[in-house]
Amino acid sequence: MTLLRDADLAAAFDRAARSYDTLVAANPGYHAHLRRSARRLGLPHGGSGTRVLDLGCGTGASTAALAAVLPGAEITAVDASAGMLERAAAKPWPDRVTFVHAPAERLTEAGVEGPFDAVFAAYLFRNAAAPDSVLTAVHDVLAPQGRLAVHDYTLSGRARDRTVWTVVCGGIVLPVATALGDGRLYRHLWRSVVEFDTADEFAGRVRAAGFDCVRVLPLPGWQTGITHTVVGRRAGTDTATGR
Ligand SMILES: C[S@@+](CC[C@H](N)C(=O)[O-])C[C@H]1O[C@@H](n2cnc3c(N)ncnc32)[C@H](O)[C@@H]1O
Repeated sequence: MTLLRDADLAAAFDRAARSYDTLVAANPGYHAHLRRSARRLGLPHGGSGTRVLDLGCGTGASTAALAAVLPGAEITAVDASAGMLERAAAKPWPDRVTFVHAPAERLTEAGVEGPFDAVFAAYLFRNAAAPDSVLTAVHDVLAPQGRLAVHDYTLSGRARDRTVWTVVCGGIVLPVATALGDGRLYRHLWRSVVEFDTADEFAGRVRAAGFDCVRVLPLPGWQTGITHTVVGRRAGTDTATGR
């Protein structure tokens, strides 16, 4: 199958938005893992006084994880799908959370300006037609030494993990999603993971985009070897501290 990209992908998410929260609630560990990845940003003091960008916020699951882990941060949550964003914005949020409808590739045009102290991207990069360009855009909106955490299904490279992924998608996710009328999006999910980087390959991409302290961190449960957090820090000197 051809992977969904850009407007086609946004339209598929628009349609799937109504059942997205129900499906992820049935995925053991989904919300707890997002909070764990948010903590891995390593922002001190609950993110007090910081600006954090949630790229590909969807219906707000990742935004909620950031808001819980970083009660002092101002959060800008961006998504290309109007349908997903509408669901997110309809939930109750503190004033420090703002939603913006924009593709990650056109942040500046949408008025999303850096510098941010951290960028969080959950289940985003393998959906992008040009992931390196998105990484460059992320690098450019981060302050020097700003943090990045990418949380996604990125396989370990071991045959066993790839098989588990295919069995979970084929045996559970696809039958349910197809019954809900969203088979195309969830076939895209399965293939996009199989065809995208392994976690280590993605870490290499992050280093090549100008990040240092890049590490691949595991997540537990059935997602072991399947879901990872890749963290990094924008290289460069912080002009405020000179460090
Ligand atoms: C699988 S959902 C994840 C949502 C949320 N981060 C979470 O953890 O539940 C992926 C989201 O990324 C958005 N997305 C995909 N490609 C995008 C892009 N290029 N720019 C902005 N958003 C994008 C989709 O519209 C979708 O809402």
